[in-house]
Amino acid sequence: MSDSSNVPSSKTQWSGRYEQAAAESLRKLNDSLSFDKRLYAEDIQGSIAWAHALARAKVITDDESAQMESGLHAVKAEFDAGTFVYAPGDEDIHTAVERRLTELIGAVAGKLHTGRSRNDQVAMDLYLWLYRQNQLIMTQIDDLAIALLMQADQHVETLMPGYTHMRAAQPITCGHWLYSYMELLQHDKRRFQRNTSTLSQIPLGSGALAGTAYPMNRLELSNDFAFPSRYGGLYTFHVTRNSLNAVSSRDFVVEFMEAAALMMVHLSRFAEDVILYSSPQFGFIDLDERYTTGSSIMPQKQNPDILELTRGKTGRIIGNLTGFLTTLKGLPSSYNKDLQEDKEPLFDTVDTLETLLPALIGLVETMTFNPDKMLAALDETMLATDLADYLVFKGVPFREAHGMAAKAVRRSLDTKTPLSKLTIDDYHAISEKFDTDLYAVFDYAASVAKRNVIGGTAPEQVRKEIKHAKEWYKGETKTGKERL
Ligand code: ARG
Repeated sequence: MSDSSNVPSSKTQWSGRYEQAAAESLRKLNDSLSFDKRLYAEDIQGSIAWAHALARAKVITDDESAQMESGLHAVKAEFDAGTFVYAPGDEDIHTAVERRLTELIGAVAGKLHTGRSRNDQVAMDLYLWLYRQNQLIMTQIDDLAIALLMQADQHVETLMPGYTHMRAAQPITCGHWLYSYMELLQHDKRRFQRNTSTLSQIPLGSGALAGTAYPMNRLELSNDFAFPSRYGGLYTFHVTRNSLNAVSSRDFVVEFMEAAALMMVHLSRFAEDVILYSSPQFGFIDLDERYTTGSSIMPQKQNPDILELTRGKTGRIIGNLTGFLTTLKGLPSSYNKDLQEDKEPLFDTVDTLETLLPALIGLVETMTFNPDKMLAALDETMLATDLADYLVFKGVPFREAHGMAAKAVRRSLDTKTPLSKLTIDDYHAISEKFDTDLYAVFDYAASVAKRNVIGGTAPEQVRKEIKHAKEWYKGETKTGKERL
């Protein structure tokens, strides 16, 4: 059944060459308004800058530009107030804004799209919008890093088991473990920071693909987007240098989603650690009630939903990235409608991060540790490396020392006797190199204190790293200034 009609019922911006109205099924598939309406503020900002540029180029008069500007402000006010009324012909945010502007200021609105295409317009909107979201997300990352740092600061000396292969490996300090995730977030922040330069581009003036045929000064146009920098002076955007790429490149979307995907992988691993450590079996961490949920059937449950959702949503964030890369891979140059598929995965990624990060910040800020349980989870076999190291200091080559310590562990397991309770005769049966001073090895605090190299788990090292990080956050971030 055909759903096209001979009567053009809803006029679109492009329906001039058409005798028939668009089929309803096409409209349903093609329209992007339902999701791109959130770009309204950036669309209007871009249009005001374009009106100014048209006037500077004498393509329109200053009066016409002023009419457009005040009309666009009025349109924005409607969006801000939630009173904007969509019309059936509104295909996307660009057409909706222009249609409303026409209703408000009349035919002069028809001059706004001179020398412009929705191809450069949509890219412009998205750069501006994502630049802002990227800033917000960087603040949230800093806040989460600060929450981890403050917890680490409290637990520089707290001992806990360190695991490899999820098997007890060596004692570490809790502050060291917390700091490890804080450091990953610092690296993540750096990736989002790098994105700001990719995001600071002005594609306007690229037209549909070949550039605009009007004498527009694109460098002056870019000044319209400058804003005062926090380091003094103006933060400026740079104009794109190839109009084909300007309308077709979505590298800025991909790079943002890459940074998001990698950060989610980090957060997912953190979530996995905390899910385990806060489980009744481990009992290392207690999660605050406000950040856990109960079960509708099992009254005893306190479930770590935030952490499970962190782990779960990582899949969709990676999916958004790989899905969109797949969209891009076969595209011929310049604009193709496939590019409209950039928005939903991007918006979903931004929304996910902006919803998830505050919940994680709250969870980290309020979690408490049970040092006694962490201590109780340590066992002396985790000091087997230290026992081997002891022999190394007695001149035994490490490979042999490893074998001797392994024999002691074997004997400890076979006789169900802790390593520190094996007799000196037991040790001598393994090697004459053992002496009674070997028992000093069985001290967890001494074990971590020995790992006193840059990056090691020794409290002295961890304290130094925390101090540097605190200074940085105190100097560079609002939350750091307030909390540290
Ligand atoms: N809604 C479109 C998008 O998101 C805007 C650009 C449309 N351009 C076009 N030539 N139809 O990509």
